[in-house]
Amino acid sequence: MTENKKLIDWVDQMASMCKPDSVHWCDGSESEYDAMAQKLVQAGAFIKLNEAKHPNSYLCWSDPADVARVEDRTFICSQKQEDAGPTNNWCDPSEMKTRLTGLFTGAMRGRTMYIIPFSMGPVGSPIARIGVQLTDSPYVVCNMRIMTRIGQPVLDTLGNEDFVPCLHSVGYPLTDGKKDVRWPCDAKNKYICHFPETREIWSYGSGYGGNALLGKKCFALRIASAMARDQGWLAEHMLILKLTSPQGEVKYIAGAFPSACGKTNLAMLTPTIPGWKVETVGDDIAWMRFGPDNRLYAINPEAGFFGVAPGTSMSTNANAMAALAKNSIFTNCALTDDNGVWWEQMTPEPPAHLKDWHGRDWAPNTGVKAAHPNARFTAPAAQCPVIAPEWEDPQGVPISAILFGGRRAGVVPLVNEAPTWQYGTFLGSIMSSEKTAAAAGKVGELRRDPMAMLPFCGYHMADYWAHWLEMGNKGGDHMPRIYYVNWFRKDITGRLIWPGYGENSRVLKWVFERCAGKADAVQTPIGNLPAPGSLDMTGLNISSNDLKQLLTADTQGWLAEIPDIKKHYAKFGDKLPQGLRQELTNLEQRLTAAKRMSA
Ligand code: OXD
Ligand code: MN
Repeated sequence: MTENKKLIDWVDQMASMCKPDSVHWCDGSESEYDAMAQKLVQAGAFIKLNEAKHPNSYLCWSDPADVARVEDRTFICSQKQEDAGPTNNWCDPSEMKTRLTGLFTGAMRGRTMYIIPFSMGPVGSPIARIGVQLTDSPYVVCNMRIMTRIGQPVLDTLGNEDFVPCLHSVGYPLTDGKKDVRWPCDAKNKYICHFPETREIWSYGSGYGGNALLGKKCFALRIASAMARDQGWLAEHMLILKLTSPQGEVKYIAGAFPSACGKTNLAMLTPTIPGWKVETVGDDIAWMRFGPDNRLYAINPEAGFFGVAPGTSMSTNANAMAALAKNSIFTNCALTDDNGVWWEQMTPEPPAHLKDWHGRDWAPNTGVKAAHPNARFTAPAAQCPVIAPEWEDPQGVPISAILFGGRRAGVVPLVNEAPTWQYGTFLGSIMSSEKTAAAAGKVGELRRDPMAMLPFCGYHMADYWAHWLEMGNKGGDHMPRIYYVNWFRKDITGRLIWPGYGENSRVLKWVFERCAGKADAVQTPIGNLPAPGSLDMTGLNISSNDLKQLLTADTQGWLAEIPDIKKHYAKFGDKLPQGLRQELTNLEQRLTAAKRMSA
């Protein structure tokens, strides 16, 4: 329990608004988790999986109208619209509070309100931050217990200090004899709202992923990015990996990629080049601050992986498969006849019969996907066989390099080093990717997703870039080097020309050696590309034509994108930092000069 007055008062106020039948303070214990999971099984919301195949694990199928983050229903409610910027939906905070108060009033009738004290980051770490989520979803409680550190130890650490209040309801009150359903939600009225000035989160209507597990995108990115701006640190949508060379030297690398572009796979990669080792610190979010030596130190604020299931397999990510082997929750995966789970590409051949994510009979010739493309596993990070021993180090790990990347069939080379922090920030600011299923919308469309933060930046994106430049000024020569990578180049037939996965270790090795001053690069108009022979290609069979395409600065292609980059920048008007405007002008000049020379 707690004596924190702000917390007690807030819980009282929220309970009298939401009118739950009962209130439950989560202690975070195993027995509490088991009892909650058991209740979900009895209610038909959880399917207990085969204990021999997946000990202590459950499958859950959502409402088909609640399967992904809803960016069009996500709001940044800052006092001034210009503080939310052109990339966020904005609403006046008091107007939004009034609207939401209407929706939340009585929203938990017939249900229990669970109170989840949670810590983002190791409990008690000076970098960690505490939130308290109120929710009427036991599914959310179970997931939060895997994804964050929850319960009484968090309350003990909180004492009388401040916390981020996070209110959540699925928006399905059990009034007028209404029966509960397997996945309650209010599909037509979803609101994922952030109040950056008062550091509050109110989420209504959805029970899925980042809409409902409020420690993740809502707190650790949107609210934390605003905190980081005010307090001089960075809250980023980045994996953190530890790379060890055959000589035992270690470097930590962070990487920002849009949702469902392989961050989890990269964070747990098994190198194909002999002697190199990758270990995982985090797969989705990095909080970075300056250490006493003025380097950037990163922690992973999460405690679990909420990974995209389809495509995950023993051949693409054996470490994730081991991490999710027990004590895990699966959402919108298919069910096998022996109560296991399956998703597309999990095995070379699909099973002959399944229940798909709608609970319908499925066979390979059914013609629809068995698992939803955004089906997820929620697995404890500690179960990952390659979790780095220091992954919970309260001081974090020093970052040597930052990767930016997206899914680009053309133009963007395999790897490109930014000669300066400012140019690296520029590359991050124009990052683009073909859309995936992690968010609602049309898959495949190209969108600019700066620093992979488009859906997650809690304030004006141009102010965020200015903050990046400011951090660079502070850190000077101690800042990590920045690289723009692209594993997804295709040839004109649509074939991926880079094998990706474990082979990406070749790029990691080049980055490592660049940071150690050991690998050569050629200067090009777009940045430093690997010099011939400097990317270790031993044992990889790839045609010289393909390699050339991967490692050449496509002057024409980049020049053709300049108008789109200008259009992208125009959205930010006067707020666009002068340093980035200058980088764009310089890039265009370099490209034009290169074109003239080759003509
Ligand atoms: C995620 C996302 O779930 O980025 O990590 O959508
Ligand atoms: Mn993510």
